Amino acid sequence: MKGTRIAVAGVHGHGATHVRDAGQYGDLVAVADPRPPDGVDVPVYPSLGELLAATEVDVVVISTPIQTHVPLAEMAMRAGADVLLEKPPTASMAEFDHLSRVIEETGRACQVGFQAQASAATLQLAQLLAGGVLGEIRGISATGKWLRKAGYFDRAPWAGRRTLNGVAVVDGAVTNPLAHSTAAALLLDGSTGVDDIRSVETDLFRANDIESDDTSTVRITTARGTSILIAVTLCAAEHADPAVIVHGSEGRAVLNYTTDTLELPDGRQTLGRGNLLQNLIAHRADAAVPLYCSFAATGGFTRVVEAIRLADEPAVIPEACVRWQGEGAERHPIVRDVEKWIDRASDELALFRELGAPWV
Ligand SMILES: NC(=O)c1ccc[n+]([C@@H]2O[C@H](COP(=O)([O-])OP(=O)(O)OC[C@H]3O[C@@H](n4cnc5c(N)ncnc54)[C@H](O)[C@@H]3O)[C@@H](O)[C@H]2O)c1
Repeated sequence: MKGTRIAVAGVHGHGATHVRDAGQYGDLVAVADPRPPDGVDVPVYPSLGELLAATEVDVVVISTPIQTHVPLAEMAMRAGADVLLEKPPTASMAEFDHLSRVIEETGRACQVGFQAQASAATLQLAQLLAGGVLGEIRGISATGKWLRKAGYFDRAPWAGRRTLNGVAVVDGAVTNPLAHSTAAALLLDGSTGVDDIRSVETDLFRANDIESDDTSTVRITTARGTSILIAVTLCAAEHADPAVIVHGSEGRAVLNYTTDTLELPDGRQTLGRGNLLQNLIAHRADAAVPLYCSFAATGGFTRVVEAIRLADEPAVIPEACVRWQGEGAERHPIVRDVEKWIDRASDELALFRELGAPWV
C-alpha cells in the first residue's frame, strides 16, 4: 500500500531485492548500511539506530548478517516499526525466545523471509495433504543439490561460520542457503511451531574450508510422528532446483519451491507466488489478513537451527571423495556421487551414516 514508510537495513547482496520491493509496494524512505550503496535516491545511514533516530518508519526490512538479526529487529520494534526479517530469523533458541518476548511486549508484527511459504504451490500442497490426498504420509524429504564457489564464502566474514567473535551465526547448508527446504517441509506437515518437534538428528559434513556444514543429512521427527529427512549439499557437480517430496501411501508429491511447481500423481502445474512485504503491509492494514510466515511459525525451524548449533563440528569429507574445479573465486569442490547419495537418503528417509555414504 503506497503511503507505508519502509526502511531497509542491509542493501547489498539479497537486500537489493528488498530495496526494489519497498519502492514497489510502499514508499522507501531511507536505508541503513555501513557500506553505503550507489544509486539509491533516499537518505543513507551507516546504522539502523541513526536511521530510526532521524526518520519516521512504519516497516523495517532487515537483510543483514544472521548474527545482527535479533538486535536490529528488537531496535526496529521498540521504535514502533513492524519488521520483515530475513531467514534464518535467529541463530539460537535463546535468541528466538528473546525476540518472541519483544514481539509480545511491543505488539509489533514480524514476518520472516521464507518466501517459499508465500508460494501458491507450497500452500496448495499443504492444503491437499491436510485433506489426505496422498493417503497416509510415510515421510517428507527435501533434496538440495547446489553448487557454491569460493567467492560465495569469501563475500562476507560471517559466510560459512558457526560463530563469529563468540556469537552464534550457524551459516550452514541446512540452516541458511537451503533453509527454505526445511521450513517448507515443516509447513507441509503442519509442524511450524516450537512445540511441534519431537527430535532432530544431525549428520553434518563439509568439503569446503569453512566451519559450517556444506553436505548434510538431518532427520526431524515431528510431534505428530512424521519423519522429515533433509539431504543437501553445496558441492554438487551442477546446480539443481531444490525439491520437497511427500511420500504417501497413495503416491508422491514433489514441490519445487524456487519455480512454484507442484507435481502430483495426476499431473504437474506451475502456480503463482505472493510477496512477503506486500503481505506484511496488508496485515498492518487489516489484522485479519494472516502473515505468510509469522515469527512464531519459525519456532519449529529454529529447533533445527539449535540442534545444528549444538552438534559437533561437521566432519571433513576425505579428499579421495572430492574433486576440485576452477581457480580463485571460481574454485569449488564436487563431492563424488553426492547426488546419488542425496537421492537415496531422500527415498529411504535415511541419514548418510545409516546408508554408509563413502565420506562417512
Ligand atoms: N530469502 C532468501 O532467499 C535469502 C537469500 C539470500 C540471503 N538471505 C538472507 O539475507 C540476509 C543477508 O544475506 P546476504 O547474503 O545478502 O549478506 P551479505 O553479507 O552479502 O550482505 C549483507 C548486507 O548487510 C550490510 N550490513 C552488515 N551489518 C549491518 C548492520 N549492522 N546494519 C545494516 N546493514 C548491515 C552489509 O554491508 C551488506 O550490505 C541473511 O540473513 C541471509 O540469510 C535470504
